[in-house]
Amino acid sequence: MNSDRRKQNEPSSSRGRFSGRLGYVLAVAGSAVGLGNIWRFPYLAAKYDGGMFLLVYLLLTVTFGYVLIVSETALGRMTGKSPVGAFHTFGRTLPFHFGGWVNAVVPMLIVPYYCVIGGWVVKYLAEYIAGNKAVLAADDYFGGFIANSGSLLLWFALFAALVFLVVLGGVKSGVERVSKIMMPMLIVLALMVAAYSVTRPGAMEGVKYFLIPNLENFSWMTVVAAMGQMFYSLSIAMGVLYTYGSYIGKDVDIEKSTTEVEVFDTAIAILAGLMIIPAVFAFSGGDPDTLKAGPSLMFITLPKVFDSMGMGTAVGIVFFLLVLFAALTSAISLLETSVSSLCDELHISRPKACLIMVAVMAVVGGTSSLGYGVLDGVKLLGMAFLDFYDFLTNSIMMPMGAIATCVLVLKVVGFEKLQAEVELSSAFRRNRLYPVYQIYR
Ligand code: TRP
Repeated sequence: MNSDRRKQNEPSSSRGRFSGRLGYVLAVAGSAVGLGNIWRFPYLAAKYDGGMFLLVYLLLTVTFGYVLIVSETALGRMTGKSPVGAFHTFGRTLPFHFGGWVNAVVPMLIVPYYCVIGGWVVKYLAEYIAGNKAVLAADDYFGGFIANSGSLLLWFALFAALVFLVVLGGVKSGVERVSKIMMPMLIVLALMVAAYSVTRPGAMEGVKYFLIPNLENFSWMTVVAAMGQMFYSLSIAMGVLYTYGSYIGKDVDIEKSTTEVEVFDTAIAILAGLMIIPAVFAFSGGDPDTLKAGPSLMFITLPKVFDSMGMGTAVGIVFFLLVLFAALTSAISLLETSVSSLCDELHISRPKACLIMVAVMAVVGGTSSLGYGVLDGVKLLGMAFLDFYDFLTNSIMMPMGAIATCVLVLKVVGFEKLQAEVELSSAFRRNRLYPVYQIYR
């Protein structure tokens, strides 16, 4: 029915329309799928008791996460602005400044430490290319690597330079085109590695640990961690979706796109979990210390998997190359968002905005790199720098940004207006997910 109408009214634009939505979904998926899925999700799931974390994560994704994605995208499309501008459309008092800026600052703080982890990926890729798969699989390899501040800074700088080059050099669309091919490849390879991992002797314990919730293991920290991870992985509460929303036409089906992105993003996270968590049980006997290893988990576990398999070097090279691309597209999107917020709001040129970001990168990324080495003695709230920035953005600022968006929708814009915006392009089938609003009303 829909397509008939389209054929009658605008025969030549139907294809453009389709690729418009596809392009949008791919862009959002490109920024959603990254280190968050492959590096961050598995280590949090391992740390917070597997099944319980997964369950809470899934529940939050289909409820709160869904509501936020739709709201941010619709607000972006309604106002045609990035977060600060979008909030300013509705008011200019302090709460509006705060709401906009808290959303806009998060990517500026994430991108530096994201590039540090990106640097770790480049390092591992380089080592696989050099044929050092057994070296990487040694027990204390990663610990030694992150304690070596000089080398860490170098790999961080390399990855960050790559991201800046892409953003400044305008080859962004090229990278995105390549990543459209790499993304399906990543899924296929992850499926193969996960199949290998879960069939190792002893791995079944890990599969159970990851998939079966154990109520005894529930704690509020599980909820906080799962919520932070959901924000992080779906790129919520950091202005990105406002910005993307401002780029799409009134005909792009927001509900359908959101569902697709959520399914895709979650599928990759679960696959990564299946690659890594069962391997902890198969290769380290479910050692609780390894399970709670935190940010290093992927880097200490996967090399053991690759070392034990035939063609491990080739698998290692391809895997880290694919992860590198996924990380690049996310980092590009983070940097772009940061730069464009600075340009728009401070009325400065792009090169100037880039310079500011170089400075932020140097300070935040630099301290993140050194935090496990020369600055080992310095702890913020008991955390190393990288862990602290991660905690600050994910557990404090993103929830504030999310609440700001909720308050904006509920108290200022009004749900009816949001609903009308979504219904411009499709029925709003899941509007009942706005229960807070129903209670409030
Ligand atoms: N979602 C990305 C990932 O999973 C990381 C990320 C967080 C991001 N916020 C973002 C990417 C904003 C792009 C834009 O790795």
